[in-house]
Amino acid sequence: MRFSLLLAAAAVEGAVIGRDACDAPGPDADGRYTISAPGIKAQFIPYGATLTNLFVKDKNGKDIDVVLGYDDVAYYPKDPGHPVYNAIPGRYANRIGKGQYTIDGVTYKTEQNDGANTLHSGTNNWSFRVWNVTAFTEDSITFSILDASNSSLGMLGRVESSVTYSVAGSTWTIKMNAKSLDQKTPILVTQHTYFNLDAYRNPSTSKIWDHTLSLPYSARYLDADQGALPTGKILTAAPNSLNDFASSPNLALGHARNLTGFAGNCGADGACEGYNGYWLIEGAPKGAAVLTLGSPFSGVKAELRTDQPGVVLYSCNWMDGSAGLKNTQGIKGVNEKVGRSSCIAIEAQDWPDGINHPEWNRTAAQIIGPGQPYSWESSWTFGLL
Ligand SMILES: *[C@@H]1O[C@H](CO)[C@@H](O)[C@H](O)[C@H]1NC(C)=O
Ligand SMILES: *[C@@H]1O[C@H](CO)[C@@H](O)[C@H](O)[C@H]1NC(C)=O
Ligand SMILES: *[C@@H]1O[C@H](CO)[C@@H](O)[C@H](O)[C@H]1NC(C)=O
Ligand SMILES: *[C@@H]1O[C@H](CO)[C@@H](O)[C@H](O)[C@H]1NC(C)=O
Ligand SMILES: *[C@@H]1O[C@H](CO)[C@@H](O)[C@H](O)[C@H]1NC(C)=O
Repeated sequence: MRFSLLLAAAAVEGAVIGRDACDAPGPDADGRYTISAPGIKAQFIPYGATLTNLFVKDKNGKDIDVVLGYDDVAYYPKDPGHPVYNAIPGRYANRIGKGQYTIDGVTYKTEQNDGANTLHSGTNNWSFRVWNVTAFTEDSITFSILDASNSSLGMLGRVESSVTYSVAGSTWTIKMNAKSLDQKTPILVTQHTYFNLDAYRNPSTSKIWDHTLSLPYSARYLDADQGALPTGKILTAAPNSLNDFASSPNLALGHARNLTGFAGNCGADGACEGYNGYWLIEGAPKGAAVLTLGSPFSGVKAELRTDQPGVVLYSCNWMDGSAGLKNTQGIKGVNEKVGRSSCIAIEAQDWPDGINHPEWNRTAAQIIGPGQPYSWESSWTFGLL
C-alpha cells in the first residue's frame, strides 16, 4: 500500500529519473531510495529530502543505524511532533526574531509559529514538502524544490534549490545549492540530522550524555533568550563550563549535567535541559574536522567537515518518549522510545537570525538576490574511536 502510494506520488511529480544502467529505478518496496558504498549505506525519501536510515560499522564490525527516523515512511507527514528528522528546513532555517526582517528598507512579516518568532520559515517549510528526485545512482541522489513566492508567509520571490547526497569511503557528503529567481530574499539552509551513535542499543542508558563531543574551533557561541532566539551577544565558554566543547577532545556531551544551570541551559524558563544553541566555527584550517561526535559504547565516531561558519546543537530536550524507534534500533523491553535527551541534532549553518543582526556581518551571506550563487557543503566521515 505504502509502495503504491509512493509510486503514485512519484508519477504525479513526473520527475523521477532512474538509476544509471538498467537497475530498478525509484524506491525500494518500503518507499526508500538507497545509496551505498563499502562501509556505509544511506536511505532517503522525497518528503523533506529526508535521510531515513544511515548504516555504518560499529566496533564489532556490525552495521548499525545511527540516525533517528521511522520505519513507516507514510508516518513522516503525519507525525504531530514533526522534529524535522534529518530533513532540509528552508528557505530560511532556524528562527527569525519577532517574525520579521527588512530588506532595502522594506519590512516583511513572517509567520509566528514558535512563540513570537518564526521557526524554519513557518508552517509551509521545506521539510514538509515532497521534493522531486532529479538524479539517482548507486552512490548518489539529488532532490530539488521550486519554492513559489510567498508560499511561506512573507518569503517573497521564487527560489530554486537542490540537495545532492552521496556516499564514498565511509563518508556521507551533502551539497546544496539555491537560486533566487526574481528578487532578494533570505536563504539559509541546513541538514537537520539527529544522531544516536548507539542506535539506542546501549542497555545502561538511552540518554545522549555519555557520547563525547568535540568542537575544537568553537570556544565562542551565541547567547540566546528563553525562546532560543539569539540576543546578539557573543559569549566565550570557559574550560569545563556548561557550553564548553572546545577545551578538550574528550569532553562528554553530558560533562556539565550536574552543574547549576544545565537544567535551564536551553531556555523555556528552565524547562529545557542541555543544548539548543549555536556555536561559531572560527579559525579552522581548510579541510579540518570541526566537530567530532563519538560513543564509547558502539565505538563509532562521526567527524563533521563543513564550509559553514557554525553549527546548531540541539540535545533533544523536547522528545517526550511518544515516538517509537525504528526496528533497526533499540532493545525490546529496555529502549523502545525516543526519550528526552536521547539524541543530538547537529546542523551546520550560517548564524541564526543573521538577517536581523547587521552587526554580525552575515546579511550579505543570507540575503540572496538573482544571479547570486548560494551553496552549502558538509560531510560526515565515520570511523572508530
Ligand atoms: C512546518 O510546516 C508544517 C506543515 O504546515 C507544520 O505542521 C510545522 O509546525 C512546521 N514546522 C515548524 C517547525 O514550524
Ligand atoms: C517537481 O517538478 C514538477 C514538474 O517540473 C513541478 O511542477 C513541481 O513544482 C516540482 N515540485 C517541487 C517540490 O518543486
Ligand atoms: C502573502 O500571503 C498572505 C496570505 O498568506 C497575503 O495576505 C499577502 O498579501 C501575500 N503577500 C504578497 C506580497 O503576495
Ligand atoms: C552526575 O550525577 C550522576 C548522578 O549522581 C552521576 O551518575 C554522574 O556520574 C554525574 N556526571 C557527571 C558528568 O558528573
Ligand atoms: C563586523 O564587521 C565590523 C567591521 O569590520 C567588525 O568590527 C565586527 O567585529 C564584525 N562583527 C563580527 C561579529 O564579526
